[in-house]
Amino acid sequence: MHSRAAILWETGQPWSVEDVDLDPPKEQEVLVRMVASGLCHSDDHGRTGDMPMVLPVVGGHEGSGVVEEVGPGVTTLHPGDHVVTSYIPSCGRCPACSTGHQNLCDLGRFLMTGKMIVDGGRRVHARGTEVSTMSLLGTFAEHAVVHEASLVKIDDDIPLDLAALVGCGVTTGWGSAVYVGKVRPGEVVVVVGVGGLGIAAVQGARLAGADQIIAVDPVAFKRETALKLGATDTAESMEQAKELVVERTRGRLADVAILTVGVAHGDMIAPFLALVAKNGRAVVTAITPHTERTVEIPLMEFTLWQKQLLGNTFGAANPRADIPMLLRLWQHGHLDLESMVTTRYPLTEVNTGYADLLSGRNIRGLLVHGS
Ligand SMILES: NC(=O)c1ccc[n+]([C@@H]2O[C@H](COP(=O)([O-])OP(=O)(O)OC[C@H]3O[C@@H](n4cnc5c(N)ncnc54)[C@H](O)[C@@H]3O)[C@@H](O)[C@H]2O)c1
Ligand SMILES: [Zn+2]
Ligand SMILES: [Zn+2]
Repeated sequence: MHSRAAILWETGQPWSVEDVDLDPPKEQEVLVRMVASGLCHSDDHGRTGDMPMVLPVVGGHEGSGVVEEVGPGVTTLHPGDHVVTSYIPSCGRCPACSTGHQNLCDLGRFLMTGKMIVDGGRRVHARGTEVSTMSLLGTFAEHAVVHEASLVKIDDDIPLDLAALVGCGVTTGWGSAVYVGKVRPGEVVVVVGVGGLGIAAVQGARLAGADQIIAVDPVAFKRETALKLGATDTAESMEQAKELVVERTRGRLADVAILTVGVAHGDMIAPFLALVAKNGRAVVTAITPHTERTVEIPLMEFTLWQKQLLGNTFGAANPRADIPMLLRLWQHGHLDLESMVTTRYPLTEVNTGYADLLSGRNIRGLLVHGS
């Protein structure tokens, strides 16, 4: 079938919105009519080359839509079902899935290959060539053919545009605080970087019962939004946050710090780790350019203060349980998704959306297909 999608042909180039041809869904695959897609910073890492991607590639991994057609052997989804994409598939059977770590599912190994799980092929074609898809999804498109392991069914009465956000940013940011950081009632939390992930981390920390939440961002509008959604204080830099947290905790420092800046660098880790107390948890959620391999930290303090420096994929969440759970929290008024969406764009404006992300104008930009 014919559709339209935003393709990256070469590193450093803008996204190109153009006509594509889609193969029908093969075994265990599903054709989804996309409704919305969040603009996550990770797609931009692919565009700049900070994160390797198989080019050409259809962008987008934080999406929502309606099932149009299912391939042979699909029993869990039917035409008409509303779905959210999970940027890591979960098979439900591998050691990780079956021990409650779906974010680490063995199927994750296919994501960087750009090849479909079932047969190693590709389903998108443009300009006479095969095109891969970001996270084997490619949500910057009017339609996508994806494996059923990458789709989570949601209730029909949840607005599909807001639901898209839970496909990556909300779940990862929330889980950074609640699952990886293990924020407990009364704790002091610092969130560094208030984009889509950071604002979800602030909300996660609030709902986990944090006493003080310090949101750090150089952009005033981000700090103001953080205060509305649960932050108790703000700072413009990690250095300023350190002074504040020293003052507020009488020198004890924070229990948890979460790094959700747009692009992380090795030299951010020392000041970041300096924010946490003895036994503190420092959660690195932001992505570093893959060529950067070096971190300098005061190792003696790291050891003797028993600090924990924690990596994080998808907020250590279980997408099949956590995506519906987070949407229930929204339904019941505990999680604010509306305030996360600063600007909506049609697919053709995807580059404007990323320019707005990079200039600090959006908490989250949202592509709404067909708008
Ligand atoms: N680990 C994972 O599973 C996972 C999943 C999704 C995204 N990510 C990564 O998380 C990061 C955040 O993503 P996003 O979409 O929220 O990005 P974003 O660009 O929307 O937000 C980043 C925010 O950080 C702020 N910032 C930049 N430099 C800063 C600094 N030195 N101190 C404080 N704030 C600073 C920016 O002003 C912006 O508000 C990205 O690196 C993204 O690739 C990781
Ligand atoms: Zn993402
Ligand atoms: Zn699995």
